[in-house]
Amino acid sequence: MKKKFRKVLLLLAVSMAGVTLAETTPQIINVESRQTISLDGLWKTIVDPFENGYYDYRRLPLKKGGYGDDVEYTDKTKLQEYDFATDRTLFVPGDWNTQRPELYYYEGTVWYRNRFQYQVKNDKRVFLHFAAVNYEAIVFVNGKEIGQHIGGFTPFNFEVTGLLKNGENSLVVKVDNKRKFEAVPTVNSDWWNYGGITRQVTLIETQKTFVRDYYIQLKKTDKNIINGWVQLDGNQLNKTVKVEIPELKITQQLTPDAKGYAAFEVKAKPTFWTPENPKLYKVNITVSDEVMTDEIGFRTIETKGNQIILNGKQVFLRGVCIHEEAAFRNGRAYSKEEDLVLLNWAKEMGCNFVRLAHYPHNEQMVRQAERLGIMVWSEIPVYWTIQWTNPDTYKNAEAQLTDNITRDKNRTNIIIWSIANETPHGAARLDFLTRLATKARELDPVRLVGAAMEKEEVKPGLMTLNDELSKVMDVLSFNQYVGWYDGLPEKCDRVNWTFTEQKPIIITEFGGGALYGLRGGLTEHFTEDYQEDLYIRSVNMFKRIPGLAGTTPWILKDFRSPRRQVRDVQDDFNRKGLISDKGQKKKAFFVMKKWYNELKEQYK
Ligand code: GCU
Repeated sequence: MKKKFRKVLLLLAVSMAGVTLAETTPQIINVESRQTISLDGLWKTIVDPFENGYYDYRRLPLKKGGYGDDVEYTDKTKLQEYDFATDRTLFVPGDWNTQRPELYYYEGTVWYRNRFQYQVKNDKRVFLHFAAVNYEAIVFVNGKEIGQHIGGFTPFNFEVTGLLKNGENSLVVKVDNKRKFEAVPTVNSDWWNYGGITRQVTLIETQKTFVRDYYIQLKKTDKNIINGWVQLDGNQLNKTVKVEIPELKITQQLTPDAKGYAAFEVKAKPTFWTPENPKLYKVNITVSDEVMTDEIGFRTIETKGNQIILNGKQVFLRGVCIHEEAAFRNGRAYSKEEDLVLLNWAKEMGCNFVRLAHYPHNEQMVRQAERLGIMVWSEIPVYWTIQWTNPDTYKNAEAQLTDNITRDKNRTNIIIWSIANETPHGAARLDFLTRLATKARELDPVRLVGAAMEKEEVKPGLMTLNDELSKVMDVLSFNQYVGWYDGLPEKCDRVNWTFTEQKPIIITEFGGGALYGLRGGLTEHFTEDYQEDLYIRSVNMFKRIPGLAGTTPWILKDFRSPRRQVRDVQDDFNRKGLISDKGQKKKAFFVMKKWYNELKEQYK
């Protein structure tokens, strides 16, 4: 209650000072095509495990004197117990765990400080945009707390028009990656809790009234129509907006309504986007003299019985799961170059699909996949034992889903929005996820909605998916580890699968661990021989599943997890990668490559 009251007081005080206090503003999409100033680089930092920079010794929020004030500690006659002007820096973007050895396991608050020069332009508005911060961010501009954001993998922005001044400005961000039971994800996950300002920080300068958001895709009910909408932000919401797709000779002059929203639809015969020919069209969106461009593809996606239909043709999803962890460096990935290493490995394996686990990856991962002809399963981290009855937890999950769809709804290669991974059955979970699925379809009626559920052995040797959630999903997608967590690889030979629902089946995880180069018996865990044999038998088992529409083995590359403790074998790495943390392809990689090449021929 105190905090809310403090916020109202702050709002009042600041508004009386004639400036607008920034609040988290609706997401501005397609940042790369806007007028931007990068704030990436080396930021000063203070590690603050006891929250000393935000709370007093009675654990009450500091009214002043917190680290957000960013006061230089020069006058030694005054007592001050923090100082940013040291050599303690961290690179932004990037996780702190792999930048400084003492932060490898750190879970807590790190304060980041950036002082930057700015030239106020009276004809512009300016926004502060974070592509992601894991997990909770509280942001201060020139000593004023302007807002906070919760969620480690989705973008957020604040309007800071009127808060920035000519010359030097101070930006301070309190980043807290502590795991919490009520959070999304909750306290238990099988990946490293990389903390920090893990993606880019940007100032966006716009006209007073600009296009904040838009959607342009094929109409769900008619593949010969391109439809969409634009959303203006500002105080002249009736400004004409021009949408052009020059190659299709499409120009739409739109007059938004009183809320700045305008929809359109236009007959068109675009070349459809396909994995074999990932055709993208240049789209120009103009309001006044501000032109924004995007590259957008057009395709249809639907299911027919147990088939996935892309542009009217059945497709098999030759996929692989990927964590957002850079190859070789093995820290949170954030750049186009790092994304391309992972995606090109997937292409080399014969993939036309990737499951971006278990959270929204950086925007370039999706955009580069789109250019490479790779379809995407996009997921939010509703993972394992979420607090299903906590309303704040649901609000958090829904906000992450909304922000994910808002950011990527124009990426034609995303075909499935995933709302969960391996969540335990129960009425509260079913209600929570049904609400999320409804929200996803509300935000985007075109794409499919899925979740990674779990298989069940209904009787010895007979597997099925027995999950009430499957009725709400468009696909029967589940993880199964027959031969790893469930018996030895030989069990794959004597297992059959049965499904009651006629929906496409996607096996969203399977596989087992191997340390690259470790050789041994076929039943010796963590040898490449075991992993290869498991993959051979798994593929043979899959060939016996009627209605199988796709597979995404777990996982492309070994990745860090605190749950993996076998010394000299795991060493904090989950070794289920088909490629090692050093980029070495294991024997099982080639089993998948061979099968996917067969499937490519079969589904030509
Ligand atoms: C689970 C989970 C993954 C995890 C994997 C494993 O299915 O979805 O996040 O890493 O199994 O145990 O390796």
